[in-house]
Amino acid sequence: MKANKVIVALSGSIRENSSTQRTLNSLQKHISTECEYIIYNGLHKLPHFNPDLDGETPPSDVQSFRSLLDQADGVVICTPEYIKGVPGVLKNALEWLVSSATLYEKPVAVITSSGGGEHAHQALQLNLSMLQAHVPNEWTLLISGANSKQNENGEYVREEVVESLQKLLDSLKGHITSNS
Ligand SMILES: Cc1cc2nc3c(=O)[nH]c(=O)nc-3n(C[C@H](O)[C@H](O)[C@H](O)COP(=O)(O)O)c2cc1C
Repeated sequence: MKANKVIVALSGSIRENSSTQRTLNSLQKHISTECEYIIYNGLHKLPHFNPDLDGETPPSDVQSFRSLLDQADGVVICTPEYIKGVPGVLKNALEWLVSSATLYEKPVAVITSSGGGEHAHQALQLNLSMLQAHVPNEWTLLISGANSKQNENGEYVREEVVESLQKLLDSLKGHITSNS
């Protein structure tokens, strides 16, 4: 058994200085020392999904992405909404996880932080249900009007958002640390 449980975080925005990335950075303090927290920053390196490339030897970046997620006890996805849906770079990454079943029954939390975000929030949960990830309602959080609720470090300053994030992460951590 691993010494520490591992939570891997994925950002739906690969923009430099992205508020989503900053939010993921700020979650470290909520996760504390109970779990190792790894933010995967390689989504932009994954090639466009193509079933022809998804054979016995998939591209090396795909292999390392899958292998990191295989080691994860839980996953946190934080994403903005792009044109009423899931940003392409994140959807592309999820398409690479279909054949490998990497997220099968994997505990996954979904945080959508955007201007509106409800379409991406629903669509992402639908994508994850196709991948048979474990995404109970209490691990989903839609933060609309996100920019006005954050400071420059991407930390949420509205008390109700901070409480919701803490509750979500406590529930996810509680689940994965009780499953040894
Ligand atoms: C191409 C593009 C499309 C967008 N479409 C939407 C949208 O449909 N709904 C929404 O709420 N925000 C939309 N936005 C706004 C972003 O979700 C918002 O700026 C978000 O905070 C960006 O996250 P980031 O700072 O992590 O990159 C869009 C932004 C871009 C660049």
